[in-house]
Amino acid sequence: MNIAIDLGSDRTRVYIENKGKVLDEASVITYDVDTHEIFAVGDEAYAMIGKTPVGIRAAHPLDSGVIAQSDLVEEMVSIMLREVCAAKIVNPRVVTAIPCKLTEVEKRAVVNAVSSFGARKVYLIETPKAAALGCGMDIMSPHGVFIADIGSGTADIGVLSLGGISAGKSVKHAGSAMDEEIVKFIRKKYNLIIGTNMAESCKRAVGCVYEPTDDTSFRVKGRDAVSGLPRYVDVSGVEIMEAISEIANEIVTAIRDVLEQTPPELIGDIYTDGIILTGGLAKLQGLAKLVSVATKLRVRVHKYAPDCVIMGCGKAIGFIGKEPSAGISPLLMAY
Ligand SMILES: Nc1ncnc2c1ncn2[C@@H]1O[C@H](COP(=O)(O)OP(=O)(O)OP(=O)(O)O)[C@@H](O)[C@H]1O
Ligand SMILES: [Mg+2]
Repeated sequence: MNIAIDLGSDRTRVYIENKGKVLDEASVITYDVDTHEIFAVGDEAYAMIGKTPVGIRAAHPLDSGVIAQSDLVEEMVSIMLREVCAAKIVNPRVVTAIPCKLTEVEKRAVVNAVSSFGARKVYLIETPKAAALGCGMDIMSPHGVFIADIGSGTADIGVLSLGGISAGKSVKHAGSAMDEEIVKFIRKKYNLIIGTNMAESCKRAVGCVYEPTDDTSFRVKGRDAVSGLPRYVDVSGVEIMEAISEIANEIVTAIRDVLEQTPPELIGDIYTDGIILTGGLAKLQGLAKLVSVATKLRVRVHKYAPDCVIMGCGKAIGFIGKEPSAGISPLLMAY
């Protein structure tokens, strides 16, 4: 049996062949800084962020889709995989998604992380290809597909045709950068220090990047920067838009850049079909509208946007060992 892993900056998802998605947990690990003893991984570790005692850290070991702390990623992945497929799966082949344009060293780090579990062979697939497969698109045909997977650490944008990426870009600012901007904004405007988990909840609740309404508000709780005492403020969607719109505009600019690089023959297909958005941040209110206004194209958010990449990696298991026909780019990079 083979498995697929989507090692995201925010969430790790695992798919088992013939079974489907079996795990979807926060990419977080809690450990002792001195002894490196692991206390928790996944959602349990996420709940500890900003609340750990001195000497204990709860960290996201992936940053912008790239492995920032390889030993921690390896530990996190092996603990998660042991939970879902202990003893049942021996030396599997593993398909895993990577952002476009990773360096060879960054790719190796991903391969090492997923093989720490005992993988026989690792196959890498670029995120836009996995996302499009997960949306049910036929990416082997000569028909152009424009897809943007917008997650926590990266926005991976690609125009796909004949199994390859005809134009693409990866932006290293997405959902988590927005959370950090919200933290900065609240500190600056209200002298209130809040954590990133609180900022993320606020973004999900009232975050909007196109024509927000003033009647939505969210109570953020934190510590007063001057008195040091607990305090809260109610912030509106309009205020949050002020904090996060620069990052949204960066993503929109990258989408426009990719459109400009797209070969003219494929532009015709994209004009007809529009743009598909996947990834968790695709669900941010107003983002699809913002992209649509900036590109004058129809923009659709996939119904299961956060799961498209892992479902696509799962489908890609079926391509292992299959040589592409003439003129079609190989889907997987074997390691
Ligand atoms: N309903 C929502 N509204 C706004 N943002 C959301 C919503 N749901 C999820 N997000 C955001 O989407 C991001 C997570 O998306 P996703 O799960 O695709 O990321 P990831 O795959 O872990 O990261 P990456 O692929 O960038 O490494 C987070 O920043 C999260 O706050
Ligand atoms: Mg992702």
